[in-house]
Amino acid sequence: MWHTYIIAASLEDALKALAEHGERARIVAGATDLMLELQRNVRSGVEVLIDITRIPRLDEIALTDGWVHVGPGVLHSQAEASPILRQYGFPLAQASWGVGSPQIRNRATIAGNLVTASPANDTIVPLMALGAQVTLRSVSGKRTVPLSEFYTGVRRTVMRPDEMLTEIAFPAMKPNQRGVFLKMGLRQAQVISVVSAAAVLTLEDGVVQDAKITLGAVAPTIIRAPEAEAYLKGKTLDEAVAAEAGRLAAEAAHPIDDLRASAEYRRRMVAVLVKRALLRIAEGREAENFPERPPLLWGKARPQPNPLPKTVVLTEETPIRFRVNGREVSVKGAFRKSLLRLLREEVGFTGPKEACGEGECGACEVFVDGVAALSCLIPAPAAYGRDIVTVEGLAQGETLHAVQQAFVEAGAVQCGFCTPGFVMTTVKLLEEHPHPDRETIQEALSGNLCRCTGYYKIVRAVERAARER
Ligand SMILES: Cc1cc2nc3c(=O)[nH]c(=O)nc-3n(C[C@H](O)[C@H](O)[C@H](O)COP(=O)(O)OP(=O)(O)OC[C@H]3O[C@@H](n4cnc5c(N)ncnc54)[C@H](O)[C@@H]3O)c2cc1C
Ligand code: FES
Ligand code: FES
Repeated sequence: MWHTYIIAASLEDALKALAEHGERARIVAGATDLMLELQRNVRSGVEVLIDITRIPRLDEIALTDGWVHVGPGVLHSQAEASPILRQYGFPLAQASWGVGSPQIRNRATIAGNLVTASPANDTIVPLMALGAQVTLRSVSGKRTVPLSEFYTGVRRTVMRPDEMLTEIAFPAMKPNQRGVFLKMGLRQAQVISVVSAAAVLTLEDGVVQDAKITLGAVAPTIIRAPEAEAYLKGKTLDEAVAAEAGRLAAEAAHPIDDLRASAEYRRRMVAVLVKRALLRIAEGREAENFPERPPLLWGKARPQPNPLPKTVVLTEETPIRFRVNGREVSVKGAFRKSLLRLLREEVGFTGPKEACGEGECGACEVFVDGVAALSCLIPAPAAYGRDIVTVEGLAQGETLHAVQQAFVEAGAVQCGFCTPGFVMTTVKLLEEHPHPDRETIQEALSGNLCRCTGYYKIVRAVERAARER
């Protein structure tokens, strides 16, 4: 477990810390993968965590000289809402939108998704099809690596321990290029891909000039489907052509049997998914089901990095100072805990609950600097200098918040264990969508699980709160 938590105020300080601590250190971005890896002892020997979330300008998405540049702090929720990505890197925006739940997407970064290097990680698939490259920096210089050469195996990359991924870049899609990302999982949200696929095509008068097809979760790393790509060149897309390309793509896959699916099922689904992706492009339906304004649970403002004047080094001896429900607190002795356990065990706010402890259920939801997030996946020292709100911070004295009142009146509570999370989500949803439709409500609530009330009354409570605001 870590003994030092460095909150870097600048990129230079982060790189210096990496150079000093090498293999004993890990970068912390959203921590949605890292916290689980540390809790499950997947990564042994990690003693120093280097938090990069307070470094200014790492969260920028820019379009320059025909290239799209994505910073290492860019969140999936930023990507799904980004006009630049929607126009010039649509399959990436789509993949980010499919990651986890809104609360996960509010912490998790695209860079973290690339570095974790799981073959089921969603954003690698479209980025590979878009011809992306990554910039790796250390104190001794920087290098650019095509994403196709970044991976050496399951959860393995060419990145050295002293390097940080500082940029993802890809050529902006041109007006004659079309692309789509599709994933297949076992449910609608919070779903790890059983199979995923991206297609990026260059078309002239409906004829394919160039095709990039990439597949996820069917080999140790994300792979291309070269036979399918070659077959598509010079073809006009129709049902038969799309089916044949799907068949050829399935031949490129080398899936395994695991808990989620058999290898045979995965191979068949590659054919289905690739065919579907190509027909969507042929029929101009790439954006089908992709919401114009997805619920982000940011409230009114985009998440900001909340910069620090200088780098802070925290150890077990240093108190973690932060603000919770409007009160300044300073806590020692919670250094290796999650923010959830810090709040519950050290500060006494037991509103956020621990149910799954793995980011799956939303019971631990809090606002971090105004944005909905899952406190079970946040290392306690990451709260340093932050403004946290728990469900206890919503009521005004004895008067419940309007959303709490609506949950009571709609009978949307049974055991109540999940209720703080649902209430927190609803508060953020209504700040950004005062009159949400059913679909938006369901999407916003997709990261909150209830085991006993059932969702009808909860959805009705949200509608009631919206009406009565
Ligand atoms: C409930 C749940 C659902 C999920 N659903 C999905 C899903 O649907 N699809 C999917 O693809 N993933 C999913 N994930 C996985 C995870 O959320 C993503 O991989 C996420 O993008 C990781 O980003 P992060 O910022 O949280 O990374 P972190 O956890 O902060 O970091 C991950 C790894 O990358 C390293 N790292 C991070 N940034 C850098 C950098 N700039 N330079 C060098 N190293 C770096 C860290 O040291 C660490 O080893 C899910 C996770 C959870 C808990
Ligand atoms: S999401 Fe944090 S406890 Fe379930
Ligand atoms: S009310 Fe019991 S889990 Fe939702």
